[in-house]
Amino acid sequence: MKTLLLPVLFVGGLGAVASATTISVDTNKRLQLIEGFGFSQAFTRAGQFQNASSNLQKQALDFLFSTETGAGFSIIRNWIPSASAYTIEPNAPISSTSPPEYVWDNDDDGQVWFTKEAISYGVRTIYADAWSAPGFMKTSGNESTPGYLCGTPGHDCSTGDWRQAYADYLVQYVKFYEQEGMEITHLGFLNEPNFLPDYSQMQISPNATEAISFIPMLYKAVKDAQLKTRITCCDAVGWDVQSNYTDVLMAAGMDRYLGVITSHMYSSDPTYPLATRLPTWLSEAGFSGRFTTVWYENGSVAEGFTWANKIATGIVHANLSAYLYWEGFEINQTQSGSHLVDVSGNEALPSSILNAFTMWARFIRPGALRLATSESPSEVITAAFENLDHSIVVVVTNGGSSAQTIKIPLSGNRKSTSAWLTDNTNQVASTLAKVHGNMVEITVPSHGVVTLQIR
Ligand SMILES: *[C@@H]1O[C@H](CO)[C@@H](O)[C@H](O)[C@H]1NC(C)=O
Ligand SMILES: *[C@@H]1O[C@H](CO)[C@@H](O)[C@H](O)[C@H]1NC(C)=O
Ligand SMILES: *[C@@H]1O[C@H](CO)[C@@H](O)[C@H](O)[C@H]1NC(C)=O
Ligand SMILES: *[C@@H]1O[C@H](CO)[C@@H](O)[C@H](O)[C@H]1NC(C)=O
Ligand SMILES: *[C@@H]1O[C@H](CO)[C@@H](O)[C@H](O)[C@H]1NC(C)=O
Ligand SMILES: *[C@@H]1O[C@H](CO)[C@@H](O)[C@H](O)[C@H]1NC(C)=O
Ligand SMILES: *[C@@H]1O[C@H](CO)[C@@H](O)[C@H](O)[C@H]1NC(C)=O
Repeated sequence: MKTLLLPVLFVGGLGAVASATTISVDTNKRLQLIEGFGFSQAFTRAGQFQNASSNLQKQALDFLFSTETGAGFSIIRNWIPSASAYTIEPNAPISSTSPPEYVWDNDDDGQVWFTKEAISYGVRTIYADAWSAPGFMKTSGNESTPGYLCGTPGHDCSTGDWRQAYADYLVQYVKFYEQEGMEITHLGFLNEPNFLPDYSQMQISPNATEAISFIPMLYKAVKDAQLKTRITCCDAVGWDVQSNYTDVLMAAGMDRYLGVITSHMYSSDPTYPLATRLPTWLSEAGFSGRFTTVWYENGSVAEGFTWANKIATGIVHANLSAYLYWEGFEINQTQSGSHLVDVSGNEALPSSILNAFTMWARFIRPGALRLATSESPSEVITAAFENLDHSIVVVVTNGGSSAQTIKIPLSGNRKSTSAWLTDNTNQVASTLAKVHGNMVEITVPSHGVVTLQIR
């Protein structure tokens, strides 16, 4: 497939006369905060990662977290398990107000190990998200059948109001990590509340009335425990649904209690900003289809370039502060593309989607601010950032059928430039950044991404 395609690209690259566009970066016009890029090892994947051979484990960790040779991911999203085999509260107390019996196995299905590894690579943003409350706290009595949290408006249960117990349970989970010496920085209490699967899940209504009745209680429980953990909502299936939830949450004043608005992209991608002053994260992304190392062939959703474009669109057009993929490392699961690293023989194998993330995550570090840029050619998305160390990073994503030459004026005394290219033949490879006087010039191939770093 690849060899067939090369001549086509070659003609495209050489045949078109590359036009040069000057794009200026306004270092005085700061846009959204970037909190990072990430992924999850939820649903037993952390345990499998921990069980992998040490060689494979090291390779996969490096691909995911290394800022020298890997993607440099800076956020992980853990699963707060509600299934009785894994949860910290497997048995119902006598009543919703009687003391709970928590259990902690110092392992949390491999997530204690995984979180420690992530931290050892410099990750500081640990998002713990519950898909559901334990079954006995729900109207359905089962953590994996559709139900609401008992005690929220319209959901009275014979067993009582479980909202405080659920808040205490979530806080206890954070405290167990604190005991392990790790800080859970973000806490979510549900996942895809508008979806009805037969695994861990909990519902809310379109007007989010259940979330609105619970969020202040969770906030108080977090404060009372003197934790700095920030609360998220609602990890909806898609952006349009989360947009509606966000409107009702903001109208109810929930931005006083929430730290981040979170959404997935399965039913709609982030293409416009949500109406909130809170940072917004695309907190889970994936697709159904096969794992592939193909960067660009026909624009299919499995390909790296498709994801390069999704990330660029989300950051530039939807004001995202973070973009998280679904799983990181899985073993021999290439029939599915919902993870970024698999294995081939005895070696870890990155997908082309990992390369798409690397072009952003390795260079744009947590705490960076996006900067305004002047207009890009159509089919090109340009995003610029200033890192905390004052380095400037510009990511240029070219969805057009011909190469683009981009000139960027250098401001101040920034003079040292480096650039990296990913396309069908280059994988985060060093590429030329020509400096002429106070201009730096890069060439971005068709369906390619160039990341420029200016110091
Ligand atoms: C990891 O290995 C342990 C010990 O063999 C086993 O009990 C556990 O189920 C394994 N975990 C996963 C997720 O495969
Ligand atoms: C909970 O629901 C799942 C299906 O979603 C079912 O397989 C399981 O048996 C139920 N558990 C109990 C205790 O009823
Ligand atoms: C929210 O929606 C639910 C379900 O549609 C409805 O029963 C309830 O009355 C609504 N609550 C408010 C405050 O609008
Ligand atoms: C969002 O709310 C609007 C107005 O109530 C409604 O028309 C639309 O269908 C909702 N969108 C989704 C995805 O639920
Ligand atoms: C973008 O997000 C930031 C938070 O990171 C927020 O303060 C700002 O208001 C948002 N801008 C727009 C246009 O939504
Ligand atoms: C598109 O490319 C993918 C590989 O990236 C391949 O699996 C798929 O069959 C192609 N689809 C079409 C319609 O050519
Ligand atoms: C992956 O599958 C292959 C073929 O079935 C097998 O030989 C190999 O041991 C598996 N790799 C791992 C790490 O389990």
